[in-house]
Amino acid sequence: MENFDSELWKLINNTEDYIKYGSISDRKLPDMVLKKEEPDTLEAIAAQIAGCRKCRLCEKRRNVVPGMGVLNPDVLVVGEGPGGDEDMQGQPFVGRAGQYLDKWLDAIGLSRHTNCYIGNVVKCRPPMNRDPQPDEIDSCLPYLERQIAILKPKFILTVGRISSAVLAGQEAGIGRLRGRTYSYKGIPLIPTYHPSAVLRDPTLRKPVWDDLRRLKAELEEIKNGR
Ligand code: URA
Repeated sequence: MENFDSELWKLINNTEDYIKYGSISDRKLPDMVLKKEEPDTLEAIAAQIAGCRKCRLCEKRRNVVPGMGVLNPDVLVVGEGPGGDEDMQGQPFVGRAGQYLDKWLDAIGLSRHTNCYIGNVVKCRPPMNRDPQPDEIDSCLPYLERQIAILKPKFILTVGRISSAVLAGQEAGIGRLRGRTYSYKGIPLIPTYHPSAVLRDPTLRKPVWDDLRRLKAELEEIKNGR
């Protein structure tokens, strides 16, 4: 096919040259003919993140945290950005909040090792664990969007205000956002509280459990073809 494209391109150019100038020039084939678009991969995205200097978060990072888990996951969990432990290890949700998140997932038959992928809106740690700034989110979001296009999760669980607002496309606090199912480019999305918030405020356990139960039920429906 590639050969056919370049032969066709040459034929068109040669005909055009011959009609216009009565002779044939030696034109270079344009990149779009020579280079076929490679399919995007998680590895390619991770390599680009590793070299990324698009925002100030690159200056203080020890490691980038692209994400971890399985392809075509049942659930993609999206947090806000790496904390200190994640920055040290280059893996998402490996600190106290992450261990708590793993328990939530386990309670509804999910795990980052078998049927989930875990990522973040920003891939480098915001200093002192501050919120990522809008320009940092804008710089980093295309990586997550490409990851989602490759992963093709059946469901998205956003934890915390930032990832929920960004992916549900709604400007509201998590207390107002949670309790219903949204759609990210046709993928159902349930927002819930961030595990760090629940560790600080145990009264949030009940609404989180309600959200997780609903996620499990809706996921089962999808897997059973509705
Ligand atoms: N909090 C997040 O939002 N993401 C992590 O990876 C860790 C803590």
